[in-house]
Amino acid sequence: MKTLQLQLRFLIPLLVALVIAALVVLPLMDQLTLRWFSRDLNTRGTLVAGALADAIDDGVSSGSSARLQALFDRAARDERLVAIGLCSNDDVLVRHSANYPTSLKCLEAREIARRPDQRLELPTGAVHVGVHPASSERANAGTLVLLHDLSFVDRRSQDTRQYLIIFIIGLGFVISLITMVVAQLSWRGWVSGMRAILRGEGLVRPLLPPPELQPVVSEVRARLRDLEDEFRRSEGLVTQWNPERLRSLLHTQLRGDQVIVVSNREPYIHERGPNGIIAKRPASGLVTAVEPVMRACSGTWIAHGSGSADREVVDAGDRIGVPPQAPDYWLRRIWMTEQEEQGYYYGFANEGLWPLCHVAHVRPVFRESDWEAYRKINQRFADAVVQEARGEDPVVLVQDYHFALLPQMIAAQLPRATILAFWHIPWPNPESFGICPWRREILQGMLGATIIGFHTRFHCRNFIETVDRYLEARIEHEHSSISYQDKETLIESYPISIEWPTQQMSAVWPPASECRRRVFERLKLPVDTCLAVGVDRFDYTKGILERLRAVQSLLETHPDWRGRFVFVQVAAPTRSELDEYRTFRERIQRVSDRINQRFGNEHYQPIHLLVEHHERDALNELFRAANMCVVTSLHDGMNLVSKEFVAARDDEQGVLILSRFAGAARELTEALIVNPYHVEELADALHRAATMPEPEQRERMGALRMTVREYNVYRWAGRMLADAGRWRMRARIEARVQRYMQA
Ligand code: G6P
Repeated sequence: MKTLQLQLRFLIPLLVALVIAALVVLPLMDQLTLRWFSRDLNTRGTLVAGALADAIDDGVSSGSSARLQALFDRAARDERLVAIGLCSNDDVLVRHSANYPTSLKCLEAREIARRPDQRLELPTGAVHVGVHPASSERANAGTLVLLHDLSFVDRRSQDTRQYLIIFIIGLGFVISLITMVVAQLSWRGWVSGMRAILRGEGLVRPLLPPPELQPVVSEVRARLRDLEDEFRRSEGLVTQWNPERLRSLLHTQLRGDQVIVVSNREPYIHERGPNGIIAKRPASGLVTAVEPVMRACSGTWIAHGSGSADREVVDAGDRIGVPPQAPDYWLRRIWMTEQEEQGYYYGFANEGLWPLCHVAHVRPVFRESDWEAYRKINQRFADAVVQEARGEDPVVLVQDYHFALLPQMIAAQLPRATILAFWHIPWPNPESFGICPWRREILQGMLGATIIGFHTRFHCRNFIETVDRYLEARIEHEHSSISYQDKETLIESYPISIEWPTQQMSAVWPPASECRRRVFERLKLPVDTCLAVGVDRFDYTKGILERLRAVQSLLETHPDWRGRFVFVQVAAPTRSELDEYRTFRERIQRVSDRINQRFGNEHYQPIHLLVEHHERDALNELFRAANMCVVTSLHDGMNLVSKEFVAARDDEQGVLILSRFAGAARELTEALIVNPYHVEELADALHRAATMPEPEQRERMGALRMTVREYNVYRWAGRMLADAGRWRMRARIEARVQRYMQA
């Protein structure tokens, strides 16, 4: 566009110059040259006539027509003079040179000589007609008609015309160049001046707006910035990560190789209910994130079959195509006995590693029998990976703390597999990790992976320091890699996220006002209620108790909120077999009851505790109905609830209160970031969110939405798979180099 503008700026003046030259200058120049030459020829004619006058006089008076004829013929031999004729005083042609056109009568010659161009066209060419008195001192012998050749005039004016055209084109070029430069300079100057004014820099003195225009300029400036922001928010990135982009990355960088995911929790659980078998989605951040990736990549997902009807729906190979309505990938179920589950899942994973990695003041418990079960089940999953692998180098995505030993076990059987181990929970510092009796085995097991991923750089650093403390490994801090027993592993941070709702998805959502109406009706809330929500698994790491304390503090310090502030906590039951979880649940129930008794009445309950699993649509409705969402984890790898709340608020309203101990706080900086351990600070945040003006909510929510949309789960998977692709290419090159060296 810019080049076109430049070209036009250059071409237009040039064209104008040429048109002016063709229409005006050239004909004018022709006329002028002719006049100049006519004038010259007339002067010349007068001289010739003067020179011949005496001789003519003699010839006429002697009556010697032969002498006169010879005189005329001699004179007509002149290079320019074509012919010569003598007219008597009564205008009769009395004598003429040989090539004089006799059809040209004396009177006609006089007439032509009076015209400005004095031009006569003859069959032999154009001539100039001049009439001059042939008078001497002695007598008047008549008038001489001199015909001068005009072809040389034509030749000269053609030459002049050529020079003129060249000159005009040159001039046109110069003018065009000057125009272009001037236009460019003045446009830039104008634009930068305008920008400077709008930015309020006032750098260019003459462009400073007069003081009376200052408010208008400020207003325009603010509007422009708003529009710019709105545009960026609505447009998003041109190169947005989405399923197509992920698929194409798989095909280009991983040559469409098979992708196998391993996790403990399965993406669909088949349960037997009163109306037959239903497929449920579990409450798990891991599943929320990985499921859309699997839909995009196809492949196989290996997980524990934990549903009461899981065995009934699988084929002979323990496989079932999912999602149930339109299968995109295979779910391969692994079975375990209750005792195995007790040791591996409840015991080592959730009583040992979970509290070990979350600094949430619950002591980890490590039992030898749990460790044995953990190893056994990890081996079972490793064998399943080998069974499911179609080739010797699949891409295996190992998920979370249930499978610390799996990378090494897989690598032992499939040394060419690319293994990405993603740790979804925090990684503690070396001292805390040192509590684990099998710390070396866990680290060795993980280092079987090609890449180990965490949500944050902070957790990567903790992991590297832990390896440094407990293993004899070589650490390359610059490349963030660890070499252990001749095997190199990359340690990288990949912040996980959610699938950003597509337009088709959000188009069917009821409007936020309708969601609010339905939720308020269901919970019997007065319309002016300020609704805060919390959505979590019923887990002691989530800071639910801290929220309740903050609500209590708010109602104590701001009694005007009593009757008008309601906190709804959705708590999905989880790991209920474990004492810690049972006692935690009971405690939350007790504290909620106490607060309700103290501040509530028969029409008002400040706390609504909904201990049940909610499906995705129900959660979306709740998020859209709320004034705020409270995420107060005491320690959390990422926390996807915060991102789901943001994704649900396409009305750009609602406030997110977010714990600084959740990985999400590093990305979602426009939330109200809090320390959940500080009761008053959290209570203040509740009050601030409840009274936040709509424009501020819009600003914050708009920015949060932009972040979550851009840093979505396809980007998470895409970055990991791209790193894996690079790694595989490096391995292939190294293998080729080795071959050449051996050859
Ligand atoms: C966390 C873990 C996941 C786990 C989820 C639900 O998000 O990182 O691996 O699936 O909690 O816990 P559950 O024990 O019910 O699978």
